[in-house]
Amino acid sequence: MSLDPHVFMKTMETRIGFTSDDKALLKANAAWGSTIALQMAEVFYAYLARDKEMNDILNAKEGRMHRLNETFIEWFGEMFTGMDDWGSAYANRRWRIGLVHVQIGIGPQHVVPAMATVVNEVGKQLKAAGLSEDLRDSLGRICMIDLAFIEQAYVEVSSQAVMRETGWTEGLFKRMISTGAASLK
Ligand code: HEM
Repeated sequence: MSLDPHVFMKTMETRIGFTSDDKALLKANAAWGSTIALQMAEVFYAYLARDKEMNDILNAKEGRMHRLNETFIEWFGEMFTGMDDWGSAYANRRWRIGLVHVQIGIGPQHVVPAMATVVNEVGKQLKAAGLSEDLRDSLGRICMIDLAFIEQAYVEVSSQAVMRETGWTEGLFKRMISTGAASLK
């Protein structure tokens, strides 16, 4: 895979403006994050289950929902702790999460509103706990970085697969996409 998760993480941090102040604020509120993680998971999966297509995916395998509750709680907590200070371990983990969704066939159309559900719910929880708007902004920024990883995985996996199968260069592939997009306008 051509994408280097660590480099991608650094690029996103700069682009989104995820700073050391955000990191300090998240770390300082990690204990609060773990108190709401279970409730966040419940809201998240209740949202996904409202859609038949997603509900079918969630229940397609024995024990999947149980596993997902655990992985969501872990994922949510990692946004606050940063694992290795939002370093390579964090980036590799986020990249893997992206690949898992691509492999299962869960498209961007599902992932984007799902992340919006997380951001909205966390905002409500923060308000109820009387916590600062700064924390909401920091969480919003790390959620967008995590989302960018999942979205980028779709592009990387499909382009790499086509280039591998056909032997096309990246330049040729990009030209074909742009010609294809122009013809669809
Ligand atoms: C905000 C967006 C999302 C986040 C943060 C998220 C988080 C995660 C995480 C952390 C995992 C575990 C990955 C691993 O095994 O390493 C996972 C797996 C999975 N997610 Fe998501 N997810 C998101 C969106 C969705 C959506 C929209 C669906 C649609 C149904 C979905 C369904 C699944 C399924 C089926 C698995 C694999 C479960 C298994 O059998 O192990 N996710 N997700």
